[in-house]
Amino acid sequence: MAKSDNKMTDTDEKIFIGKGEQPAWLTLGLGNRHGLVTGATGTGKTVSLQVMAEGFARAGVPVFAADIKGDLSGISEVGEPKDFILKRASEMGLTFQPDQFSTVFWDVFGEQGHPVRATVTEMGPLLLARMLDLNDVQEGVLNVAFRVADDNGLTLIDMKDLRALLDAIVPDSKKGANGDDDALASVRKAAQGFGNVTKATVGTIQRQLLVLENQGGTKFFGEPALLLKDFMRTDSDGRGMVNILVADKLMQSPRLYSTFLLWMLSELFEELPEVGDPPKPKLVFFFDEAHLLFNDAPKALMDKIEQVVRLIRSKGVGIYFVTQNPIDVPDKVLGQLGNRVQHALRAFTPRDQKAVAAAAQTFRPNPKLDTAKVITELGKGEALVSFLEGNGTPAMVERVMIRPPSARIGPITPEERQAIMNKSPVKGKYDTTVDSDSAYEMLQKRVAGTAATADGDRRDDLRHQRVARKIVDRSDHRAKRHALGNQQGGRRGCCRSRQIGGRLDGRFGRPRSGARRARWAAATIELFADLPRRDLPLISGTSVC
Ligand SMILES: Nc1ncnc2c1ncn2[C@@H]1O[C@H](COP(=O)(O)OP(=O)(O)OP(=O)(O)O)[C@@H](O)[C@H]1O
Ligand SMILES: [Mg+2]
Repeated sequence: MAKSDNKMTDTDEKIFIGKGEQPAWLTLGLGNRHGLVTGATGTGKTVSLQVMAEGFARAGVPVFAADIKGDLSGISEVGEPKDFILKRASEMGLTFQPDQFSTVFWDVFGEQGHPVRATVTEMGPLLLARMLDLNDVQEGVLNVAFRVADDNGLTLIDMKDLRALLDAIVPDSKKGANGDDDALASVRKAAQGFGNVTKATVGTIQRQLLVLENQGGTKFFGEPALLLKDFMRTDSDGRGMVNILVADKLMQSPRLYSTFLLWMLSELFEELPEVGDPPKPKLVFFFDEAHLLFNDAPKALMDKIEQVVRLIRSKGVGIYFVTQNPIDVPDKVLGQLGNRVQHALRAFTPRDQKAVAAAAQTFRPNPKLDTAKVITELGKGEALVSFLEGNGTPAMVERVMIRPPSARIGPITPEERQAIMNKSPVKGKYDTTVDSDSAYEMLQKRVAGTAATADGDRRDDLRHQRVARKIVDRSDHRAKRHALGNQQGGRRGCCRSRQIGGRLDGRFGRPRSGARRARWAAATIELFADLPRRDLPLISGTSVC
């Protein structure tokens, strides 16, 4: 904690979090070094999360947080000057300044927020196997299914695609394992080529899919899939948008919840460019009930979690885990969580006492404090904190009162939520599912032998649009930069646009028909609609045009 600056407000470099003997700040430039908020139930974790989220948003950093109990939604409404808040503010020598933050609500079930969808392909076999609770053999078969889909151009978008594909790779007893007299024989053969795919294993996966469907997983897989840039917005005042994932219902399926959030982190990790250590994070991600992520996680998944946490820092993303006790988090991950807020822990049983001792050991000691003792004495909204300072060393642990948040504490009403959703910047973008031709339809057509040329064209067009959207979206930060660079006299804009065209050509080949070429070019250019108009000619120089 910086000792020189005693003013209790945010500065350009730091967020004011609370006050003990001296103020405690979270340094924005070290915000991507991750963090941890812990404490027993009712001790103030969610409010501390809100205080941090408000600080990041004020500094222009977009935030993503899962709202397990609905009580984080209050961040979207102006804070009420209730007695306990005014009292806390005055005890800390603060003036309470009510405020509210631009918020977008997301909901896997599409009920209390915009739907969040991913395609089956994006989720990938590792995470899907975790969602479905598969064993190694079953996961192996799922891997085979993904590989067969890839090799045969069968796009896996939603659940019915995956089901249809699994049906297609089942050995057919009537025709023999490698039956060769029907339309799906080649798919079956391809699958058997990767090892023994048995009917029983596929049957188990299908049954697990049913469980996931019953939990609402059907809604999650589909299109339009989420574009992560929609999380990275700032509002018209330049403040970071607060993205809240409504998670009360999702939490009833803890595996779905934790795998889904891990998927989001992996997507961020894969899609964002390297930025090193930026002056403030590009996005801050709060992961509540984080222990669920680590519960019985197989080694491959643990390795993935560790890798994402370790490497996402240099993409400018800070991850803040929220859980009851630091020992819920494996050591390798814990060691990477630099900014710490520890609320009270109870020490009734020997197991509790062990947990308190372990929690105390994770802090840099302060000779003036008996950390283990203080952890059990902390009041509501009071915490032991240690934020990173200087070039990234943890500050000595301090006992502080956490400041009151500026927005409302507690849930909003359904009417307030509706009003916010009506003004949402992504209104209408995700609200309706689009069911385009994919594995299910392709396999059906194979069986029916009706892959008519016109339909094939339409399917190709849709696929081209889908892939182009992904390529453009993943590249547009660079395309934009390069296009603008070109504006200033360079020539890299054209080069980048050509790269996009080239990648599309690589996937699809150059369309022979002039009409199709024109359709594809128009669809690609449309994806650049948010570029300044003057840059469009650069894009129309792509090789698809
Ligand atoms: N910094 C604070 N300023 C003002 N009030 C606070 C603060 N921290 C906690 N409180 C009070 O304590 C209550 C409980 O806090 P909070 O909901 O954050 O606990 P929690 O640890 O998230 O609990 P749970 O584990 O049940 O989710 C809040 O509703 C609020 O009244
Ligand atoms: Mg809470």
